[in-house]
Amino acid sequence: MDRCFKIFIWCLMVSQVLADDPYKCAGTQTIDPPNNISNPILYPSGWDKNHFAPQYAAGQNCSWIINVPKGMFAFFQMTANTNQSSVLKMTDSTGYVTTIDTTNMEPYFLMDPSFRVDLQANEAGEFGMRIAWYKVNPTYPTSWQVHPNSTPLTLFAGDFDNSTVIEAETRVNLLALPSTLSITDLNPYLRNTQVFDGPSINSTHVGNLHQVLRNGQRYISTGKYLTLWSLIAGYNNVGNSVILQDYFDVKDFKTYKPISCIFDFIVCDVSLDARQGTAAAIRYNPSYFFVRDISMPDTNKLSVYTDFVTDAHRLSDYTSSNSKTNTPQKFNGKYITFVLNQDQATVSMVLDGTKAAWSSAVDSRRGFFTSPNYALNSSQQDYEDRIKSFSKVSNISYTVDRSAISGAATLNVAILSSQKVVSENNYSTTNFPGGAVWAVGDTITVKYQANGAVTTGSFVSFGFDRYNSATTNNILISIVLTIWITLFR
Ligand SMILES: *[C@@H]1O[C@H](CO)[C@@H](O)[C@H](O)[C@H]1NC(C)=O
Ligand SMILES: *[C@@H]1O[C@H](CO)[C@@H](O)[C@H](O)[C@H]1NC(C)=O
Ligand SMILES: *[C@@H]1O[C@H](CO)[C@@H](O)[C@H](O)[C@H]1NC(C)=O
Ligand SMILES: *[C@@H]1O[C@H](CO)[C@@H](O)[C@H](O)[C@H]1NC(C)=O
Ligand SMILES: *[C@@H]1O[C@H](CO)[C@@H](O)[C@H](O)[C@H]1NC(C)=O
Ligand SMILES: *[C@@H]1O[C@H](CO)[C@@H](O)[C@H](O)[C@H]1NC(C)=O
Ligand SMILES: *[C@@H]1O[C@H](CO)[C@@H](O)[C@H](O)[C@H]1NC(C)=O
Ligand SMILES: *[C@@H]1O[C@H](CO)[C@@H](O)[C@H](O)[C@H]1NC(C)=O
Repeated sequence: MDRCFKIFIWCLMVSQVLADDPYKCAGTQTIDPPNNISNPILYPSGWDKNHFAPQYAAGQNCSWIINVPKGMFAFFQMTANTNQSSVLKMTDSTGYVTTIDTTNMEPYFLMDPSFRVDLQANEAGEFGMRIAWYKVNPTYPTSWQVHPNSTPLTLFAGDFDNSTVIEAETRVNLLALPSTLSITDLNPYLRNTQVFDGPSINSTHVGNLHQVLRNGQRYISTGKYLTLWSLIAGYNNVGNSVILQDYFDVKDFKTYKPISCIFDFIVCDVSLDARQGTAAAIRYNPSYFFVRDISMPDTNKLSVYTDFVTDAHRLSDYTSSNSKTNTPQKFNGKYITFVLNQDQATVSMVLDGTKAAWSSAVDSRRGFFTSPNYALNSSQQDYEDRIKSFSKVSNISYTVDRSAISGAATLNVAILSSQKVVSENNYSTTNFPGGAVWAVGDTITVKYQANGAVTTGSFVSFGFDRYNSATTNNILISIVLTIWITLFR
């Protein structure tokens, strides 16, 4: 009886081992869609995707070619756990290769005519895959244009569901930003959005947004058009975006990348490397952010532009000699571009003005206030700001760019000392700003109101300096011609 029981157990174990026998797959196998594409194909057949992938045997090379007929696309997932000495890779229809160690049903969206999976199994491991084919839905493309000397265009996940065609005057420059969701990595879903080098989804398919993001570089169309198209509609909540520009505006950059600061509540450090040539990085932000600090050697210059890179849009130049006195700095506006001429620099950014310490100044501080659409003709130029000195009294000075004063627009700049106004100017077309103004106080306030006028917005540069009461002991309000490091040319 006892012996019999032991054999029973042994039999059970053997059958278990047999069922879990590592599978063999050597050679090349072709997988075609089933007649009824409502049914996905699972490999190895019989694998239940809710369980661990089955084991494959060591010492074999397996390849699968999965056909995707024209008019269809494939939604592909793998579960794999490969030993370091083995190689598992997937090659899509454009020839882009993804090497995989471990994955658990990460999504891939694949186009015709085929893709392949290669497994060089030097050691045993686990592997299973699921392929679902879908018919391509008819698309109703939307069109956008980008022009030289223009504000960039940002489009978001969801905007490509019906395909989007972008037309440039020269070529289209595309930057891909990651998902803004930080709870889980949704970036693999960027594989859903395909990039075509031409005016429709019939143009040359060059890859997907995930590849553009992973390459860490921009994509530039060969002609005037670029088409983006998401194979499966409705992934808006992935929260990724693209920045599109006419290549004319960005052609001088050796490297060019988008800035993505996902964790708004902490400081975001952005590195620029211009050792191989001019390096640029653009930040899209619907309102404003602060540069808290810049670290750079004394060999280079970092220029900052609003909207696009031309002299008229330059907000400031930073070198190692002013990068400490001229930060923190608030950058008001949707698109801010940082351009570094050589070597390397790190720009530390934050959304919260308190964390940047923007509103309190130490003596020798320099900076500027600008309208949200500065240097563009717009009626949305209003802003209001104030900065208070750490010292009881400072010599506070400012200069106003007079171009902002047109139509009904008004600009009020006041310097206060212990909450009492010591200098106040209301600039308008009947009271144009002159040169630099200074007064001894502790606070500077600015308020710009377009009052319905379309203007290029205002730019007020300011400075806080130590007040030497030995030189003068009464409050001076004067217009001086002395020029301190002005941010204008
Ligand atoms: C295709 O498969 C689905 C799901 O199994 C089924 O509901 C449908 O009836 C099948 N269609 C045809 C034409 O067999
Ligand atoms: C698998 O492919 C590799 C690389 O081509 C080769 O070196 C190796 O001998 C192959 N192994 C088997 C078992 O065929
Ligand atoms: C890979 O296989 C080798 C040899 O069987 C083994 O020693 C090693 O632990 C394996 N590595 C992993 C990560 O499983
Ligand atoms: C695509 O466009 C068509 C026609 O305008 C519309 O009916 C459809 O809802 C759109 N689909 C998506 C996913 O936006
Ligand atoms: C793409 O080509 C197919 C087949 O030639 C055609 O039916 C379809 O209208 C084309 N689509 C676009 C957007 O040009
Ligand atoms: C703003 O508009 C004025 C008047 O139309 C024009 O002279 C000026 O060039 C425009 N400026 C910009 C930056 O577009
Ligand atoms: C205050 O600063 C301005 C501009 O730098 C300078 O011209 C002026 O002499 C300074 N005044 C005092 C009292 O230091
Ligand atoms: C500036 O305008 C404000 C608001 O209209 C007014 O209270 C203030 O007295 C004016 N100051 C000067 C110096 O004109």
